[in-house]
Order: sequence, then structure tokens, then C-alpha cells
Amino acid sequence: MQGSVEFSAVTKTYGPIRALADFTHRFGSGRVHALMGKNGSGKSTLIKILAGAILPTAGDFRLNGVPAHFTCPRDALAAGIVTVHQELSLVPGLSVAENIFLGRLSRRRLGPVSVIDWPRVHADAARLLTEMDIGDIDPGQPVSDLSVGQQQTVEIVKAMSFEPAVLLLDEPTSALAAREVDHLFALVRRLRARGVTILYITHRLNELFEIADTCTVLRDGHLVGAIEMADATPEIIVEMMFGDVAKARRPARRGAVADDPVLSVRGLSRRGVFENISFDLHRGEILGFAGMLGAGRTEVLRAIFGADPLDGGTIVLDGVPVQGPTPRRMKELGLGYTPENRKEVGLVQQLSIHDNLCLASLGRIAPRGMTSRRRERPHVARQIRDLAIKAADPLLPVSSLSGGNQQKVVIGNWLNTGPKVMFFDEPSRGVDIQAKQQIFEIMWAEASRGVSSIFVSSEPEELLDVADRILVLRHGRGVAEVAPGETTLAQLFRICMEGHP
Ligand SMILES: Nc1ncnc2c1ncn2[C@@H]1O[C@H](COP(=O)(O)OP(=O)(O)OP(=O)(O)O)[C@@H](O)[C@H]1O
Ligand SMILES: [Mg+2]
Repeated sequence: MQGSVEFSAVTKTYGPIRALADFTHRFGSGRVHALMGKNGSGKSTLIKILAGAILPTAGDFRLNGVPAHFTCPRDALAAGIVTVHQELSLVPGLSVAENIFLGRLSRRRLGPVSVIDWPRVHADAARLLTEMDIGDIDPGQPVSDLSVGQQQTVEIVKAMSFEPAVLLLDEPTSALAAREVDHLFALVRRLRARGVTILYITHRLNELFEIADTCTVLRDGHLVGAIEMADATPEIIVEMMFGDVAKARRPARRGAVADDPVLSVRGLSRRGVFENISFDLHRGEILGFAGMLGAGRTEVLRAIFGADPLDGGTIVLDGVPVQGPTPRRMKELGLGYTPENRKEVGLVQQLSIHDNLCLASLGRIAPRGMTSRRRERPHVARQIRDLAIKAADPLLPVSSLSGGNQQKVVIGNWLNTGPKVMFFDEPSRGVDIQAKQQIFEIMWAEASRGVSSIFVSSEPEELLDVADRILVLRHGRGVAEVAPGETTLAQLFRICMEGHP
């Protein structure tokens, strides 16, 4: 199995936008090639061209020296190119096994007809899951029951089942916890040893040094250069990505937060999901939620926001006891929620960037119901500026933005509501390190204006850097509360994994 990939002068334009410009480069086989670059630099565009999902405007590429002409994803798949795209693509109503073998379910003869061989499909899926050492996903489970992280795991299992010659991974780890990342890396190494070529997109610098052999950097659609990881340092790569742009700074630690609680939660339970969750969130505080994938962090936030039902417990928001929260009521009381899964619940893909930035805040922008682009424009402009959203024109559909820029729109949409309390669920998922820093700086600025937030992240480093206090959840229970200043990364990891220091 050989899979070298060679691009010559590949360009992709969308009207005036050059998503990829004159890209010429060779990716050797049997190696892991990281693709780096800030949000909107053209990484996904390159992957999509290779995957047959979009056609280049100009230029061509070769596979093992043979010119390739893909007009659809099936062509690429037939050539052994398998892709895990940035946005999840599973069919929620189907089971895990059905999703893995979609369009190629094993069949058997039953008299004159051929029927789907369900026992075999399930056994094959179970074998793949076992091979990847994934114990908590059942092949018969509907995908809609899975967390985002588990869905991403299923996408990867599915990709592996095609036995790729070239594997394209577009931010495969953004929703994975440490253990799943280790499994993925073990698999990637196995494939590499078999000569598979792997293109790997990530915004996590530390992953490069663990898994990549080379690093290729894009900036504004142009190739900046490629280096061997053996010769690389984080500084060199950041320099290649951002050039002379100011480097990311850590936010300075702040003083004490006011001690009046804005949100008080006691004994919150949802059967089989989480149990007896209690905490206070103070004015101007950033409370981190740490935990492994499936610890129940998102589920707790969703229930408080009224998106999922509760079985018990009390919630007091800004002095008001809330019985049976609904998203509408919670929003009126000043709660904002940026969800982890932007495609499903964060954005309306067909609407413009402008409209998506106003979705949650129409009641505030136009209290009497009459709105206009003119009235909305300052709110839109402010978020585009503060969050540095890279958009050619705010009236383009939000789907035309790169993944990280879509994430910023989700956040801007809720900041426009002027919330008292914000839930940030994985806000830095898929955003480059500079944009991540901008988001954290906005969280700190909001906090100093008295906005309180809960910050969920699967990266403990971020929680230690950004939060004032961290609550650790494990198997749906609060197991510890830690102070970032007095906790090391290793300690926090350990509490997340084992429930105690
Ligand atoms: N359908 C489209 N219409 C218009 N512009 C597009 C379209 N698809 C992508 N673009 C633009 O092409 C550029 C490159 O986007 P791409 O998705 O390749 O970025 P990326 O490097 O993957 O970023 P991220 O890290 O945020 O995922 C961006 O400026 C994006 O807005
Ligand atoms: Mg992308």
C-alpha cells in the first residue's frame, strides 16, 4: 500500500476569495504530515480537494505519480483516499453499526432473496470497536444517543474500516479526551507502519510533536513551507503560522471575584446522566468544568439551560428560583449558551453570517419586533471586529466560513444578547491558537464587567489558564473542586481520570 500525494499549482477560488493559491507540494508515503495554519488558511480546502468533495479551480495532483481526477467523493474513496471531515457527518437516526457500514452492509442469501446480515454487521462493527479499544460504544446504539466525542470516535472507526492508502484527518481530536486521542495515535502509527500516508490537521501544537513526521504550514491559502518535525520547535511553527503578527499572550490572572452567587444549583439530577450536582457561580467568576469525555459536563449545562428535562434539584438564577427551565425563560433571565456542536445547534447554515450573529439577540436589538439590517449592523460589526471573524462579506452564508470562524460566530451570537451568565461549551474547539487567545480575552473582559461564566473544556491546560475555580465531574457526579493556582496539570488530569488527587 503506497500513497504519495503530489500537488502542482492547485488553486481554489470562491468568487474573489482565494481559499488555496497555487499550492505545490509533495507528501511522501508512510508518514504523518501535519497541516497547520490559522483559521481560514485553506487547510480544509486542501483536504476536500483530495477527498473529491470539491474540484480545484486550477492545477492538478498525482497519487503515486499517477494523475488523479476526482469528480466526487466516491472517486477518491475508490482510489483509497479516506477522509474524516471537520464537521461530523453521521446519520443520527441510524445505529453505530449502520453508520460504519453505510451503503455497504453485509448481505446473505435467504432462499431466493438477499437480506442484510445483521448479526454479521454488528459483529464486524463490534470487532472494529474492540480493535480500537472502545468499550463504551454499542454497535446497536443510535448515533443520536452519543456525545459529540463518541460520534467523532465512530467517524474514525468508520474511516479505518475502509483500509485507507491515504488517510485525511481534519481535526479528529478536537472533541476527543486524552484516552481516545491515545487510541487514535496508536492506530495512526500502525497505519503509517503499513505505508499509509496521513494528512493530519490540528490546532493543538503539542500533538504535532507526538504524532507528526513533517509539518506543512499554510497562510491565507499560500504554502509558507514544510519542515521535518525533528528540526521543529513550537516557536518555529508559530512563527510560520502567524508571521510577525503579535504572539498569543496568556491572560493575566485577576483578583478575587465577588462572592454573591448569580447562579445557585442544588441537588440537580437527571436519571442515568448526572446526579446530585450542586455549585454556586459568583458574579464575575469563570467556573471551569473539567472531566473526561462523557463525564456529564455538557448534559448538566443543557439541563440548566432547559434544553433537556431534569428529574430533581433546584436552580436559582439572579435571585429568581426557576422551576422547569426552558431555553426561552432562561434566556429572558440573562443566560446565554454557546453549544459544543455548532453544526447542529449553534448555527443556521443557510443564513448569512450577519443573520447568525443576530439570531439570539433580536429581542434586544429590536425590542418592538421591527428590525433591519441597519439596526443590526453595529452589533454584527462589533463581533466581527472583537472576535476577528475572517469573512469577506457578512452577507455570505455562514457555511462559507472556515470551521474556526463558524465557532466564533456561535460565540458572537450569544455575546450580542448581553448575558449575565454565559455557558461556554468547548469554545476553543477548532480555533487556532491566536483566535483561542482572543476568545479567552473576551471571556476575561466579560468577567471583569460582571458577567459570570461556566467554561467547559476537554483541555485541562486551558482550564488552569482561564478559570478562577474548577469543578471536576466524573460519571455524572461532582467529585472535586480545585483552585487553578494550587493545582498542577498532572494533578488535574489525575482527578479527571480517577476522581481523586
Ligand atoms: N463555499 C465557500 N464559499 C466562500 N468561501 C469559502 C467557501 N468555503 C471556504 N471558503 C473560504 O476559504 C478560506 C479557507 O477555508 P478553509 O475551510 O480551507 O480554512 P481552514 O484552514 O480549514 O480553517 P479552520 O482552521 O478554521 O478550519 C476561508 O476564508 C473560507 O471562508
Ligand atoms: Mg478547517
